[in-house]
Amino acid sequence: MALRLGDTAPDFTAETTEGTITLYDYLGDSWGVLFSHPKDFTPVCTTELGAVAKLKPEFDKRNVKVLGLSVDALGNHKDWAADIEETQGAKLNFPVIADTDRKVSDLYDMIHPNANDTLTVRSVFIIGADKKVKLIITYPASTGRNFDEILRVIDSLQLTANYSVATPVNWKDGEDVIIVPAVSDDDAKAKFPKGWKALKPYLRVTPQPNK
Ligand code: BEZ
Repeated sequence: MALRLGDTAPDFTAETTEGTITLYDYLGDSWGVLFSHPKDFTPVCTTELGAVAKLKPEFDKRNVKVLGLSVDALGNHKDWAADIEETQGAKLNFPVIADTDRKVSDLYDMIHPNANDTLTVRSVFIIGADKKVKLIITYPASTGRNFDEILRVIDSLQLTANYSVATPVNWKDGEDVIIVPAVSDDDAKAKFPKGWKALKPYLRVTPQPNK
């Protein structure tokens, strides 16, 4: 069955551009982003991997390890890295899985046969420090992803994990957040010393706690 939010992210061992990696060892206590692209030496994928390489310091800042994947062979990944550097101005600085036997693609349901029989779609899995799947998104091959949005979601997920808050529509880091309904007003007094504004009893807005 396909993975769902809250499931434990399946562990695996795979060949990557940075050697053999076992997911759980690679992640350690960090969060993770596992993402697939359809094919090496293709235009949209080239821009995506360049963008992720440029954003690596942002992932590092959030204690997030990034791991790419396609079903292409290791030699292709390595040759393609030169094109990514040449055209996108960024050196590949995170491991990319060469999933030629489709072991990881199948484990994470990254091949959608009605889209393409053999190639992975653009899947993204955000994995928490607890190894649970926190977010799953799927894009078609023709649409490059917005990795700034992935960072925005990580900021939201990490706030939820650390402070019992949720984030409202179009929220960005630094903006007000929402106290989750599971926290009573009495508990909120201790948890949110900056106070909150109750627009409704269920809609309590408070300054972002870690700012
Ligand atoms: C691309 O990355 O441009 C791409 C890859 C596979 C199918 C279509 C587009």
